[in-house]
Amino acid sequence: MKDDIAVVILAAGKGTRMKSKQAKVLHSLCGKSMLEHLLITSKRVEPSFLGVVVGYQQDLIRAAFKDEEITFIEQKEQKGTGHALLQAEDSLKDFVGTLVVLNGDVPLIEAATIKKLMAAVDNDTLGAVLTTEIIDPYGYGRIIRDEHNQLLEIIEEKDLPSSLTAVNEINTGVYAFASPDVFTTLHKLSNNNQQQEHYLTDVVKIWNQEGKKVKAVKVEDSYQVQGINDRVDLSEVEKNLFQKINKKHQQNGVTIVDPNSTFIELDVILDADVTILPQTMLQGKTKIAGDSIIGPQTTLIDTVVGRGSKIYCSYLTASHVGDNTQVGPYAHLRPGTVLVGENKVGNFVEIKKSTIGSKTKVSHLSYVGDTITGQACNIGAGTITANYDGKHKHQTQLNDFVFIGSNSTLIAPLKIGLRGKTGAGAVVNKDVADDTTVIGVPARPLIEKKKED
Ligand code: UD1
Ligand code: CA
Repeated sequence: MKDDIAVVILAAGKGTRMKSKQAKVLHSLCGKSMLEHLLITSKRVEPSFLGVVVGYQQDLIRAAFKDEEITFIEQKEQKGTGHALLQAEDSLKDFVGTLVVLNGDVPLIEAATIKKLMAAVDNDTLGAVLTTEIIDPYGYGRIIRDEHNQLLEIIEEKDLPSSLTAVNEINTGVYAFASPDVFTTLHKLSNNNQQQEHYLTDVVKIWNQEGKKVKAVKVEDSYQVQGINDRVDLSEVEKNLFQKINKKHQQNGVTIVDPNSTFIELDVILDADVTILPQTMLQGKTKIAGDSIIGPQTTLIDTVVGRGSKIYCSYLTASHVGDNTQVGPYAHLRPGTVLVGENKVGNFVEIKKSTIGSKTKVSHLSYVGDTITGQACNIGAGTITANYDGKHKHQTQLNDFVFIGSNSTLIAPLKIGLRGKTGAGAVVNKDVADDTTVIGVPARPLIEKKKED
């Protein structure tokens, strides 16, 4: 391997076969776009230069990665993979070393494999192509070897004579090249082929014709080099990755009852002794502590769950669930919900942007929005916080030990004092003092009649 390392990712194509308005490399796999996967992997080989060739929807791609240390290289017209790499010549004019080239649509390549490939480039080998053998090679460029098993050339599917369709060793679209040698050769490419494109893969043929050495390095695990051309490929590759993620969690002590219906994204953190029941999706920055049971039929997005909690058949986004808390079945916790701990949030309850104090219960059929509750409150069935007057959102504040009767409407802004109570069906539009019960519509303090002597 030549010492200095550069990585260039080819990502200018539209990805016509995806039939999408979105550039292919922005499509996501287990919570990260294809390009994000490749950037993470690329950094692991510690390149001194990391470039991405962009064209179609380049503004969107540049914006999505604006905080990264990447050089974006424009390919104005998509004239093929060879033409795409040639656009990097200027940025790499002072670079001498090993140039790794990755196809933007082969997202699961592993750093260890790239390192193995780089090791094949040395003083007398100008390039190395990563190959693999697959059962159905249709659509891929085929690896053609000579009688000594040496790499001769790569022939694209569309240019393949029928005598070679059975060749099942394919070009994975991952390369290591000596630079600047590769750029000298890229200038020699022609587009005399079925697709009238400048194929990067023709570098192999040209080097062989020039008597230079170029190698094929085979990887056994073809799963990591599966290309994504359409949405069938996308779902297959994603399914494999989900299975791999599930296995990793299982090996770390998580019980996953049905891995086939459990979808855990890459950044999710699960402690040992978490149990995941079927048909559950854990997304984004979700984090779950031990002894919790999640599912069945539950989606958690960017949600933190404490120890020993149970979340059944529910949908939670950007929420925080404390320890020993039960949520659901059929609860909806929207962004900004904090259940402090030992709470119960029952069926058909929606909570938004609210902090629910410890041991407080919202057990049935309620809407709680923009609310702060103290501890050990009981919010009765059918309670509604009327937080929106058509123009503004208002706060509701319940002190410790408040008891809200069934079917109360709490019209915000509203404060209910310590141990305050509302009667069933109360419509409360005025603050309630400590130790006071209000009833009726609109609610008035209940004056207990003194017993007559
Ligand atoms: C390519 C290889 C093929 C290999 C396969 C592996 C070539 C000619 N063929 O075929 O041998 O088996 O990958 O997955 O390289 N791109 C640009 N600019 C362009 C054209 C493409 O940036 O002008 C980018 C695309 O965005 C994509 C990548 O290069 O990320 C590969 O292009 P694609 O058209 O998908 O090539 P394949 O036909 O799959
Ligand atoms: Ca492709």
